[in-house]
Amino acid sequence: MSANTPILVTGATGKVGRQVVSRLTRAGTSVRALARNPTGFEKDVEPAVGDLTDVDSVRAALDGVESVFLVWPFFGADAVEAFLDAAGKHVRRIVFLSAFAHDPVAGPATFHGDVERLIEKSGLDWTFLRAGGFASNTLMWADQIRGGVVRWPYGNAARSLIHEADIAEVGVLALTRDGHIGAKYNLTGPDTMTQIEQVAAIGNAVGREVRWEELARTEARAQLAEAWGESSFVDGALDHWASLEREPEEVTRTVQAVTGTPARTFRQWAADHADEFR
Ligand SMILES: NC(=O)c1ccc[n+]([C@@H]2O[C@H](COP(=O)([O-])OP(=O)(O)OC[C@H]3O[C@@H](n4cnc5c(N)ncnc54)[C@H](OP(=O)(O)O)[C@@H]3O)[C@@H](O)[C@H]2O)c1
Repeated sequence: MSANTPILVTGATGKVGRQVVSRLTRAGTSVRALARNPTGFEKDVEPAVGDLTDVDSVRAALDGVESVFLVWPFFGADAVEAFLDAAGKHVRRIVFLSAFAHDPVAGPATFHGDVERLIEKSGLDWTFLRAGGFASNTLMWADQIRGGVVRWPYGNAARSLIHEADIAEVGVLALTRDGHIGAKYNLTGPDTMTQIEQVAAIGNAVGREVRWEELARTEARAQLAEAWGESSFVDGALDHWASLEREPEEVTRTVQAVTGTPARTFRQWAADHADEFR
């Protein structure tokens, strides 16, 4: 693949996609960055407007592309087949941001599994990045951190949250180097931290004391159902967090095995994002 053949990055303004775009660009690879509102990139990036649910709107972005970083930012697999059909006319390699099996909200038992199966059937060369929970999910606490108290359920749930930069680094290698085709990478952070410890780490990075206040499950359930708009996922998430108080979430060493560098810690993530909590 020539460095001048553009790689299409979908979800390009999102947490992972933006990091994939900047890493590819820094490495001198041409990038076409797709979103409905693709703004805020370095000048070398080619923005592409498109809606993944409307295949006609993404055909032009696929023209001349050999590799795709696919983010599927929905709760279902509708429209994936149409996208893969259109992609298959140009693309040889697809790196899909999937989810770790232990995640009941996003794991392969859910729509991510459906997307994976359709990609496997497509005949394209693929790599699946099965990411565990993102450290960036804790940004949902930003207002509460500013107020000095986080009210949330299951404070002792121990999670192996991952820094988006590590997902992006693995993704860039899978897009640009040989040896990753057919891999299903389970990606997590380097260790576990309870939610109470995560809040303390953010407070430390921000330079403010933040208190944890345990929220009852019923109250949390109502809040999450409103925030996610998908109440079917809420009980699964709550059950998962409850189980992580009994047994910590799995930790893998896949980031290190693929990149040669240990995965970034949650403390590192909090330091990198401290301004977003101020
Ligand atoms: N959070 C987790 O713990 C976790 C764990 C495992 C896997 N995942 C998966 O990671 C993915 C999300 O990645 P992320 O957090 O990096 O994304 P994100 O920050 O939520 O950003 C979503 C991106 O998708 C674009 N987008 C949204 N709707 C679109 C549409 N209809 N057509 C085209 N582009 C669209 C957005 O840009 P525009 O709005 O401008 O279009 C944006 O660039 C999801 O598939 C999620 O299931 C998440």
